[in-house]
Amino acid sequence: MEMEKTGSPVFNSKITFYVVACWILAAFGGLMFGYDIGISGGVTAFDDFLIKFFPKVHEKKLHAKEDNYCKYDDQLLQLFTSSLYLAALVSSFGASKACTKLGRKPTILIASAFFLAGAIVSAAAQAKWMLIVGRILFGVGVGFGNESVPVFLSEIAPVQHRGAVNILFQLFVTIGILIANLVNYGTSKIHPHGWRLSLGLAGIPALILLLGSLVISETPTSLAERGKEQKGKAALKKIRGVDNVDAEYQQILMACEEAKQVKHPFKKLMKRESRPPLIIGILMQVFQQFTGINAIMFYAPVLFQTVGFKNDASLLSSVITGLVNVGSTFVSIYAVDKLGRRKLLLQACVQMFICQVAIGSILHVHLKATGSTLSKGLAAVVVVLVCMYVMSFAWSWGPLGWLIPSETFPVETRTAGFAFAVSTNMLFTFLIAQAFLSMLCHMKAFIFFFFSAWIFVMGLFVVFLLPETKGVPIDVMNERVWKQHPVWRKFMD
Ligand code: BGC
Repeated sequence: MEMEKTGSPVFNSKITFYVVACWILAAFGGLMFGYDIGISGGVTAFDDFLIKFFPKVHEKKLHAKEDNYCKYDDQLLQLFTSSLYLAALVSSFGASKACTKLGRKPTILIASAFFLAGAIVSAAAQAKWMLIVGRILFGVGVGFGNESVPVFLSEIAPVQHRGAVNILFQLFVTIGILIANLVNYGTSKIHPHGWRLSLGLAGIPALILLLGSLVISETPTSLAERGKEQKGKAALKKIRGVDNVDAEYQQILMACEEAKQVKHPFKKLMKRESRPPLIIGILMQVFQQFTGINAIMFYAPVLFQTVGFKNDASLLSSVITGLVNVGSTFVSIYAVDKLGRRKLLLQACVQMFICQVAIGSILHVHLKATGSTLSKGLAAVVVVLVCMYVMSFAWSWGPLGWLIPSETFPVETRTAGFAFAVSTNMLFTFLIAQAFLSMLCHMKAFIFFFFSAWIFVMGLFVVFLLPETKGVPIDVMNERVWKQHPVWRKFMD
């Protein structure tokens, strides 16, 4: 058996057509999530949509006072975008139970069913309540999908490619955002029902995921965890494409044996020895959102209009940032298992910090609350800086925010712990979605300094508290990572 540089065994595996199909199909869960991130900001700017459901907001929009930073500050409008994340927050705990008791595969199936229902109800909405029900159904879909897909991907990936495989989730998130931006660009010209198309098209990835979830394999860990040991071994053979999987399966069985001693994973999660992965999982998500990324993802067209672009130019600029987001995620897929997690995160902190400070400074000096917007040249510089910022997020905190919490918990607390990570992500996504436009209105250019201060703190966090998990088999994380770390080992027995 080969050994990784970290001293971990590399088990036999082939990359078969079947396993690649499993990865891609499951990753469609990311596409659903991304599509929703990208679609709602645009839809809330459609006049047809506002006139039908939020006539007061539309009225206000027409008579908005001309303050560069405050044009779009409206709680109700922000609530349409953000409410989904509240539903996802609550449902991720139910999803964790489903993941443990039913398995990862049925949980993915449930996610797609909710998402499909959400797409149908939203596209057909005649009244505000239907719109809200649609948002809740979407949200439950996101909660179940974001809980099950990253764990599924981490568990079926061979250890030496785990980072890259897991990042497929994020890659599909970014593709979903880009598709949504393009769809909105097209449907904004279809009156009066373009918004129905935007919301309803979410059904396509949901349908693919639904069919895919019937084909993919359950993870060997989940089968073993539920006492189906023979099936688990057969699944591992099929996934790895080789017959001799004994050593790897032995490791999985041992981890599951330990896990079976734990009857109440949530209680166990509150114990001292579970703190290290729990704190890391939660902080990764808080920090991921405090990079400020969703200020850009939700509101890029608004932001670009704020600095002075016209409607079409700002939509185009958002498509460009969307492309940069997708492209840079490939860098991460390539680098994560070679350079490791920490180097990517640290490099990105430096790049994001510089970009945010530069954007803040340009806006502070050149964009006053009233009066003219930026010159063409400066506005272009802002777009370039936003692209460089998105680029570094896309190869670091974006994918690793999901990867690290999915690979650091031992199996007995994995789905419960990951549920905390997912719900924290949803909570902070909700807060940013709900608050950004108001913060922009009140803090003006200082909002960018606010995010850069967080990025500075994140850098310190990586240096002092984040262990490297590259190449460590997922089921021996406790021994190899937490018990060796100068700070976290104090929490372990
Ligand atoms: C984050 C999202 C974000 C997206 C951008 C994801 O990892 O969780 O909140 O919008 O990356 O690509």
